[in-house]
Amino acid sequence: MTIASSSSPNQPIRQPVALLGAGGAATALGVALAAAGIPVAAVWSRRVERARLLAERLPGARAFADPRAAAEHGALVVLAVPDGAIAPLCAQLQWRPGQAVVHLAGAYGRELLEPAARAGAATGAFHPLQTFAGEADPVAWHGVGIAIDADPPLAAELAWLARRLGAEPFQLDPHQRPLYHAAAAIAANGLVALVGTAAEFLGRAAGLERAQAVRHMLPLLRGVLANLEQLGLPRALTGPVARADRATIARHVEALAQAAPEWSSLYRELCRAMLPLARERAADDPERLAALEVLAQWLAEEQRSEGVPR
Ligand SMILES: NC(=O)c1ccc[n+]([C@@H]2O[C@H](COP(=O)([O-])OP(=O)(O)OC[C@H]3O[C@@H](n4cnc5c(N)ncnc54)[C@H](OP(=O)(O)O)[C@@H]3O)[C@@H](O)[C@H]2O)c1
Repeated sequence: MTIASSSSPNQPIRQPVALLGAGGAATALGVALAAAGIPVAAVWSRRVERARLLAERLPGARAFADPRAAAEHGALVVLAVPDGAIAPLCAQLQWRPGQAVVHLAGAYGRELLEPAARAGAATGAFHPLQTFAGEADPVAWHGVGIAIDADPPLAAELAWLARRLGAEPFQLDPHQRPLYHAAAAIAANGLVALVGTAAEFLGRAAGLERAQAVRHMLPLLRGVLANLEQLGLPRALTGPVARADRATIARHVEALAQAAPEWSSLYRELCRAMLPLARERAADDPERLAALEVLAQWLAEEQRSEGVPR
């Protein structure tokens, strides 16, 4: 559910911010906060050197070796540590009423912050649907969905913060967060894994180094993203499944069986996953629809003959 602008007309986030963690997400958030004029007073990381490096980039921020001391300096404390470290870190800190604490994990809600809630602090989850790996750039937050789990008034403050970063807040039922995060992992990490495999095959076929193979794929990937952006689903689906071209798919499967046998069945599964989109695309083309049914049957039979249960 999108948080309507009217539900949080002017509810600025409590300030200053303390960042606990100085990795990819903390750095991306810290740099974006600084660009948005939201003060970060304290940064902590297990390795104080890492906290120092981030604090140096944030006007007015100090690095701390002790997470308790860092948290004390924040009206809003962000626990930007790996998901499994959030609850233990929260439990070792001292919280006070009026303070707010959020984590950045996608698959969990604010239940990880129970010790802070018991002490009277407001708790929330603030997950950006974005990947932060390279150089931090505030632009990386523009248009990004931010899944929020918090009660008022913190929910409205976090929505304000998201908008201030150029992002788009939405509320997410904590029970739905695992599925939500699985979707993010499929789209982001799954794509990287698919490109990794595709680059390996392209490299083998054309005698290219991996980096070169990836470079050759980038225009293709940009084209896919542009199609998704401009045409949406199902029209962004092109290729032999969309064309119900069984002969070409059979050639792919055969080539994969030679080059990387485990991939021939995975590839057929991928083709099966494309079928609903292909059918949707062909909704007013009975001939294409009939060809897609033949393709669907062939794919199912091929899987059965390999002993893959359906
Ligand atoms: N990176 C992304 O693209 C992204 C996107 C959305 C959400 N998130 C969320 O952001 C949070 C942080 O992820 P990240 O990618 O920034 O992680 P990261 O780059 O690995 O950084 C982790 C930070 O936490 C510290 N840390 C590591 N293990 C710890 C432990 N056991 N106890 C306490 N501190 C520990 C690290 O300290 P030292 O390095 O000093 O040891 C570092 O400061 C996660 O909840 C993640 O789900 C990440």
